[in-house]
Amino acid sequence: MSFEPRILGFLCNWCSYAGADLAGVSRIQYPPNIRVIRVMCSGRVDPIFIFNALQIGIDGVIVMGCHPGDCHYLEGNYEAEKKYEMVKEFLKIADFDRRIRLEWVSASEGVRFGQVVAEFTNSIRELGPSPLSGENIDNELLEKLKAMEAAAASNRMRALVGRQRKITEEENVYGEKVSEEKFNKIFYSAINVEYERHRVLFALEKDPKSVKDLAVELGLDPSVVLEHMLILKGRSQVDFQQIIGNTPIFMRI
Ligand code: FES
Repeated sequence: MSFEPRILGFLCNWCSYAGADLAGVSRIQYPPNIRVIRVMCSGRVDPIFIFNALQIGIDGVIVMGCHPGDCHYLEGNYEAEKKYEMVKEFLKIADFDRRIRLEWVSASEGVRFGQVVAEFTNSIRELGPSPLSGENIDNELLEKLKAMEAAAASNRMRALVGRQRKITEEENVYGEKVSEEKFNKIFYSAINVEYERHRVLFALEKDPKSVKDLAVELGLDPSVVLEHMLILKGRSQVDFQQIIGNTPIFMRI
């Protein structure tokens, strides 16, 4: 039986949704696999929406907004781009990033809307059904996505995404500007670190563990886990449960 991908599209009201409308009234043919959620701006698409859709087995998620410079709210699509970049980078960790897409489609681009949907649907068809759909879902992948979602929602990641333009385009109180290159270095490193920390937190949610046990379970170096543990303890997210012999056992607070 041929596989028909289930695609979820978040379309901004002012451009892409109008583009979809134009495709409809112009009777432009495109695959019927997409289900659309209209949002006022592509910047409204919280990374959590994308992670949630993927976790429930949606095969592909596409976000569409106005072309750069055309956003009805001036900078919403720049924010959307940064959020998307972050989600994409998280998903690369699990080799799941080809299931999402960001495209700019204007209100006059009905034909382009149809082409984008057809091309994305085909690329998802080639990938096959999501391992999170159907009866036998990939639980390990699901756990990874949950950790990514929590990491993406953390204060640190939200601050980095939300302030990127301000940090790189405006001078700080010392009259310094952070270069794009330097910002990206911090940004991409934060993605990996926050992902690992949230993997640790999810692992501790099941039961208390030592650093060594966590390192084995998550395939990380014990020194890396210990470093995460110190930060998480400082954030009051983990604490000592007990000490067995000389080994401290940590629990999630
Ligand atoms: S209004 Fe369309 S992307 Fe912001």
